[in-house]
Amino acid sequence: MKRSVIDIVDLSAQELEELVATAEDIIANPDKYAHACDRKKLATLFFEPSTRTRMSFEAAMYELGGHVISVSSAMSSSAAKGESVADTAKTVSCYADIIAMRHPKEGAAYVAATNASVPVINAGDGGHCHPTQTLADLLTIWREKRRFDGLTIGLCGDLKFGRTVHSLINAMSRYPGNRFVLISPEELKVPSYVKRDVLKQHNVPYVQTTDLESAMPELDILYMTRVQRERFFNEEDYLRLKDSYILTPDKLKNAKQDLAILHPLPRVNEISVAIDDDPRACYFKQVLNGKFMRMALILKLLKEAGTL
Ligand code: CP
Repeated sequence: MKRSVIDIVDLSAQELEELVATAEDIIANPDKYAHACDRKKLATLFFEPSTRTRMSFEAAMYELGGHVISVSSAMSSSAAKGESVADTAKTVSCYADIIAMRHPKEGAAYVAATNASVPVINAGDGGHCHPTQTLADLLTIWREKRRFDGLTIGLCGDLKFGRTVHSLINAMSRYPGNRFVLISPEELKVPSYVKRDVLKQHNVPYVQTTDLESAMPELDILYMTRVQRERFFNEEDYLRLKDSYILTPDKLKNAKQDLAILHPLPRVNEISVAIDDDPRACYFKQVLNGKFMRMALILKLLKEAGTL
């Protein structure tokens, strides 16, 4: 049966763990998967800029033996002539076995999924969801910690518009013993609906603070995020908030030796390049992990659709 992934909650905890296990198997045995998607086509429809998500989806399909067809900007497709997301999805379903789509509007991936006749993977819809980034985050957490429970997770930066943050809170709230330290400027706090519908709903402990350094000693994971210029209505507010948190070696003085520092990237200024050689910096491993998890997800959805 055709199934799409729009939000991380579309995947159960068991499915997340199965995807992690498949990704680990792909890492250990790449040859076993080299022809898994022979003659199958992935369409990447990116109506908003991307480096990692688009390229990792495309690399993932090539490494599975499949092909990729692509729209890399709204201006290079008939969206520029006013074609709807629904019609685009119906059209692309005629050419591809599976679609990965990024769009600036919240809900666009859902509209695509309800109109496409092939599985749709949300590669980011506005400030809403970015489930495959969460898959990359989960594999990184798993590879660093070998567990998903009993972790103190610091989320730092733009927690209001950060779709990766909302998806990660959703995923990690399902595991016992986790707690969140939500570090942001007042204006960029986690939205009330995430606190109400996810954290409070699952009785997950959390604290909110503006102070990264005082939170540092207790963290097992520090998830830094960029203040996203493209989500602000007002340039003045962006300029005032953009450098709220800059992680430097000095700020790690009191951090745990086995802290894992994650960032969905791109970074602008929020992690000093001096941290890149610190063994606790995991953000480029996270980039690579994203490709393996996207391979695992493509395989799963094509198998469930009866295409493989
Ligand atoms: N993390 C992420 O979504 O990066 P891109 O915007 O480069 O795809």
